[in-house]
Amino acid sequence: MNTTTYKPTRAVIIGAGAVGTTTAYTLMLRKRVSEIVLIDVNHEKAVGEALDMNHGLPFVGGVKIWAGDYSDCAGADIMIVTAGAAQKTGETRLDLLKKNAAIFKDIVHNITQYNQEGILLIATNPVDILSYVTLKYSGFPVHRVIGSGTLLDSARYRYLLGKHKQIDPRSIHAHIIGEHGDTEVPVWSLANVAGAALAIEDEHKERIFDSTKNAAYEIIHAKGATFYAIALALDRIVTAILQNQSAVLNVSTLLDQYNGVSDVYLGVPCVVDRSGVREVLDLPLSEEETKLFHQSADKLKAEIAKLNL
Ligand code: 2OP
Repeated sequence: MNTTTYKPTRAVIIGAGAVGTTTAYTLMLRKRVSEIVLIDVNHEKAVGEALDMNHGLPFVGGVKIWAGDYSDCAGADIMIVTAGAAQKTGETRLDLLKKNAAIFKDIVHNITQYNQEGILLIATNPVDILSYVTLKYSGFPVHRVIGSGTLLDSARYRYLLGKHKQIDPRSIHAHIIGEHGDTEVPVWSLANVAGAALAIEDEHKERIFDSTKNAAYEIIHAKGATFYAIALALDRIVTAILQNQSAVLNVSTLLDQYNGVSDVYLGVPCVVDRSGVREVLDLPLSEEETKLFHQSADKLKAEIAKLNL
């Protein structure tokens, strides 16, 4: 008799829009978990998306996908929240705050009714503030409430730097920190390849950072939404967690005297393992970077204060 007990790994994705479904599809293709549950206020849409992915399983195998409800959060390893209004042309991420903060109360309540042990990974914008809101509403410990933060922005930055330098972006070590949004900060002082500082002329620096910061606006203008790269960023975080990798990722976490900033969620390099955010890594920022980082924090704190949490 086979006495081995098999414990499935389950990711529940709340929000079956472009980001949620592309994330599900990415996790499915890369076989990151054995069960994927899609939850959406439009249940029929979630059913259709799950069905479509199920029909691909003969080519992939090894994963169960279904459209469920919040009771499926029971025992889940990770709940990924992508639900809410998405940015449209002419809107900033912060413009979404009121609408999305209002639905988060219900979403977090619904999840925590069934799950008190899992990890909450937030992707809905404005992601840093909504991660903070989730921390307050859930009562979970800080290390288990994670925002996708500036992982995507850092990927865009590394892609553009790699293109400029004609080097594989995976070999470019460079960080965007702060808000996932208009006040994000490029850490030029520490950008390097093989430990050697990246020498880039100022005019190219400006162009590369502008393209990084404005990438979402450009994509939304061209095709209405962004979803492939954020899905891969979420897949990267899920993998770091479930495989207990201790990977260093620029996710959003609650800061406590980080370069003088406290009580706000912002993207900074964190060690991510099975416990969630195990550790926040200090960066020796330049004076100018520190100033910009404080401005980013102040802007988000002012928005949080208006929420009367
Ligand atoms: C992005 O940066 C819209 O926040 C989303 O792609």
